[in-house]
Amino acid sequence: MNALCFIGHSTMRPSARFLISRTSKSFLGSAKQPLRSNRTHSSLANAGRPAPATIITPRSPLPAAGFNTYRLMSTVFYPRFATPSIAFANRDSFGVASRVVVVQQQHSTSVETRVNEGNFERIYVQNGNAAAAKPLVVERIDKDENIREVVSVEEGDLNLRNPEGIEIVSPGKEESDIEKEAWKLLNDAVVRYCGSPVGTVAANDPGDKTPLNYDQVFIRDFVPSALAFLLRGEGEIVRNFLLHTLQLQSWEKTVDCYSPGQGLMPASFKVSTMTLDGDKTEEVLDPDFGESAIGRVAPVDSGLWWIIMLRAYGKITGDYTLQERVDVQTGIKLVLNLCLADGFDMFPSLLVTDGSCMIDRRMGIHGHPLEIQALFYSALRCGREMLAVNDGSKNLVRAINNRLSALSFHIREYYWVDMKKINEIYRYKTEEYSLDATNKFNIYPEQIPLWLMDWIPEEGGYLIGNLQPAHMDFRFFTLGNLWSVISSLSTPKQNEAILNLIEGKWNDIVGHMPLKICYPALENDDWRIITGSDPKNTPWSYHNGGSWPTLLWQFTLACIKTGRIELARKAVSMAESKLVADRWAEYYDTRNGKFIGKQARLYQTWTIAGFLTSKVLLENPEKASLLFWEEDYELLEMCVCALSKSGRKKCSRVAAKSQILV
Ligand code: GLC
Repeated sequence: MNALCFIGHSTMRPSARFLISRTSKSFLGSAKQPLRSNRTHSSLANAGRPAPATIITPRSPLPAAGFNTYRLMSTVFYPRFATPSIAFANRDSFGVASRVVVVQQQHSTSVETRVNEGNFERIYVQNGNAAAAKPLVVERIDKDENIREVVSVEEGDLNLRNPEGIEIVSPGKEESDIEKEAWKLLNDAVVRYCGSPVGTVAANDPGDKTPLNYDQVFIRDFVPSALAFLLRGEGEIVRNFLLHTLQLQSWEKTVDCYSPGQGLMPASFKVSTMTLDGDKTEEVLDPDFGESAIGRVAPVDSGLWWIIMLRAYGKITGDYTLQERVDVQTGIKLVLNLCLADGFDMFPSLLVTDGSCMIDRRMGIHGHPLEIQALFYSALRCGREMLAVNDGSKNLVRAINNRLSALSFHIREYYWVDMKKINEIYRYKTEEYSLDATNKFNIYPEQIPLWLMDWIPEEGGYLIGNLQPAHMDFRFFTLGNLWSVISSLSTPKQNEAILNLIEGKWNDIVGHMPLKICYPALENDDWRIITGSDPKNTPWSYHNGGSWPTLLWQFTLACIKTGRIELARKAVSMAESKLVADRWAEYYDTRNGKFIGKQARLYQTWTIAGFLTSKVLLENPEKASLLFWEEDYELLEMCVCALSKSGRKKCSRVAAKSQILV
């Protein structure tokens, strides 16, 4: 049988080459739009808010059009940026259309102004019959001149060294039997697309007859797998993953005829096999942007993780050509532009719906949850490092710097709690109408939960889970706190205090199995009202105070960064034998994580990979520095509010600086 490879469902027949051969009057605002070529990098870097994607979706049978031209696209209209287009593809008898996505990217001169008059780029893939990912084609089109150019992206294309897929070889004597088993399981979890490794399934329990979507490659779940592979010297799978998910980024995505923003990365994808005429089959990559996910949750974290992984790939392999690629640079910009788009927000933190991250069910984390803020901050720092600065990107880079500075101030100042701060809140005056209010968010002291009064130690502190008007979510969310340490979103002092708190509250946060996803659980009426009586998130289970061994690797990283490696060693050695006996369970239940979770999957890949990554990092702590960020003093100096210049109002940041920034 011939296996052919597609992304998305397809019934297309072979086509060696895709060329946008013409535009259609009926779909283009103006069929006479002039076109201009532009080979410079900067043209791609003009990353204002991207114009609508016009997407070729190989879902319908191809018409037997003259001179072998297929109509391939469905068009997504975005009235605000109305320059939809239609593409045609030539075919011949050699290849298969693979990625057929057209991205229109407006040439805004500024990320703030977002003016678009119809200039755009198209990115798609040629010659889809290769065993690996396909070379991308970037077509730049400019309305000012009647020129169009199609450029094959050659640099660093996907020549796989090992098309059979990866084989993990044990490095030998120092490896324990547990580690050997873990590496084998990780290898077994690898998903191949057209023979090449592209990710790992979320769980791989042969006894599980109802895997739901756990047989898919989740973007966030793949992060520890990626790091384990990279730290082991295996970069191919990560590179493939990054490039394939990049292709999915612009895929058609709709929930009940509504399309979320361009730049969104899927929560997960799977490789499906479809039967063509005769005895041929084709493999397709089929993404889920939340349109099938339980609760239809938006995977806001996926794009942020993708950027973080891209940076890690460069740092660990030393191969920076990947991030320099024109299509990859565009991918970074699409994600960041989507996050930086103006809305109604009053805060620099990212406003999201409930369930938009690792906690992908209703858990009362809508608004400005810490986990998203920490990942957002990290992705912005990655963007700052990886984006080529040129005329086309300078506005975006400026927007990134401004946001980094405002975001870190906001989180450090307003999310931080320790004994002193809680005492301040306890004595807050409310209803302060003024620019100088101490209680800016009008927090009623009665909101301080009783558990916190007892729980908060004299030493240590943490960042709260969420902050909104008249609302502080005082729960301790582990991933957000750890990732704030790792990315230096929190100050060096705060980092140290977070680790002190974890150490001081070891039984609550680590217990029998590291680490609690959040503390404490929502119980009784809180559980009923906030989770909507979710039977999977009962108190001290799953997202509601369950314990997740995958968090070990981030804990290890935070410990190494803050010079507390012994804490990580203790947690890892405690987890080690239990994880094997418990068949690498997804999560644990009860107050101290005693029991395997009620509905926990077994052979959960990110449990396995998180353990392996922790082990490798503990053995090579110097490698950890490739994955975390130090304090950026330049950002601390930056304040763009201009109030000090006008002298009319006081800049609250300058006033607060002395207290929290050091
Ligand atoms: C659950 C988790 C989510 C994870 C997925 C796959 O939905 O909440 O974070 O990505 O399982 O493991």
